[in-house]
Amino acid sequence: MDKKTKEKKTRAFHKKICNILTNNYEEHIRVLDFGGRDGCHYEEFKGRLNNHHLEWNIVEIPSICKKHKHKKHLSYYESIEEAPQVDVVYSKSSLHYSLDYKKTLTQLASLKPHFMFFHVVPVGDHDTVLVQQTNKWAKTYGGYGAQQNMQFWFMNETEFTSHMQELGYEKKFKTFHYNHPCFKPLEHPLNGKPDSNSFIFKRL
Ligand SMILES: C[S@@+](CC[C@H](N)C(=O)[O-])C[C@H]1O[C@@H](n2cnc3c(N)ncnc32)[C@H](O)[C@@H]1O
Repeated sequence: MDKKTKEKKTRAFHKKICNILTNNYEEHIRVLDFGGRDGCHYEEFKGRLNNHHLEWNIVEIPSICKKHKHKKHLSYYESIEEAPQVDVVYSKSSLHYSLDYKKTLTQLASLKPHFMFFHVVPVGDHDTVLVQQTNKWAKTYGGYGAQQNMQFWFMNETEFTSHMQELGYEKKFKTFHYNHPCFKPLEHPLNGKPDSNSFIFKRL
C-alpha cells in the first residue's frame, strides 16, 4: 500500500476519533498518548479540534521524554503509573513494543479512560507471537536512538478483545490499515496473515 493511501486511512480514522471527541466533550479533553514520540499526534489533533483544550500526556521511553519534555502543551511520563487520569487513550503503532502488552492494556485501563483508540496495531486473525525486531525500524522508531533490538508482539484479535472486555471495554469499531511487506515472512510462524488494524474501544 502506498504512502498516500496510508495517510488517507489515517485521516479517516482521526476524523472518526474527532467526531467522538466533539460529541462527548465540550471544552477540555485529557488524553494519554502511549508512544506519542515528539508530540506529532498532538499537532494532528489540535489542528482538527480548534474549539477544545487538549491536555496531552505522553508516555514514552526515557530518552524521548528527556529530549522533548521542555515542550509547551505536552507532559511526558516514563511510565503509565506516573500518568494522571484521562478521558481518552490514543496510541499509534506502539502497543506492540511493550514488554507485556496485556499488562500495558491493564495499566492504561487503570487511568479510567472512556475511550481507547489504537491506531495501526498488529492485531489480527493469527496466533499471538512475540518476535524480536532487528531491522532499521527497531533502531529508529522502536528503539528511537536506544540502538537495541525490540520485542514486537503480533496479537491474536480474540485474545486482545477478550482482555479489553475483561478490563471493561467493548470493541466499537475496527478498520484495516495495511499489511507491511516485512510481515510477509511471518505468515507461516504466525499461522495466519499478519495485518495492521485500528480499533476503537468504549468503556462499558
Ligand atoms: C513506531 S513508533 C510510533 C511513534 C508515533 N506514535 C508515530 O506514530 O509516529 C513506536 C514508539 O513507541 C515508543 N515506545 C517503545 N516502547 C515503549 C514503552 N515501553 N513505553 C512507551 N513508549 C514506548 C517508541 O519510543 C516509539 O516512539
